[in-house]
Amino acid sequence: MKTAVYPGSFDPMTYGHLDIIHRAALMFDELIVSVLNNKAKTPLFSVEERVRILEEATKEFPNVKVDSFTGLLIDYAGRKNIHVSVRGLRAITDFEYELQIAQTNKKLSGGSLDTIFLTTSLEYAYLSSSSVKEIAYFGGDISQCVPPFVADMIHEKYKGRTDT
Ligand code: PNS
Repeated sequence: MKTAVYPGSFDPMTYGHLDIIHRAALMFDELIVSVLNNKAKTPLFSVEERVRILEEATKEFPNVKVDSFTGLLIDYAGRKNIHVSVRGLRAITDFEYELQIAQTNKKLSGGSLDTIFLTTSLEYAYLSSSSVKEIAYFGGDISQCVPPFVADMIHEKYKGRTDT
């Protein structure tokens, strides 16, 4: 069985992430979308919330599973016997960072973990979790960025916290 992992912060998941998930799920028998539990960051959503969002958004896809991990991706992938990591590339500005991570993971894993890149569909190329949060914070319209239930959850987080 060919399994791949799609790791990320997903704080929160956007339509851009969903686009990558849908397309990667067609390429592998199983796709594990895994949320990084990064203790050094203060995310808007807890890991549990981010996992729940991804589960809800991917429930129509039987070969997509949602999980979380701490520590190095190569260790997580090694434990699960996964040899492919999927990442999305929106623009050339993503490339340098992603190339460095991909090469680090390849080296650190002793060659066991490869990374494949899917270029984000053009309609989502502008999207990032950070910009979605900023737009929502200032009361802007995020309906084209995230599914309605995620938009509601973001607005709920920012209720009473906006500067507008
Ligand atoms: O959604 P993001 O924040 O761009 O995802 C980045 C992620 C989670 C893929 C990357 O930071 C990661 O894999 N972190 C786990 C720690 C790790 O393995 N670091 C080694 C690569 S430098």
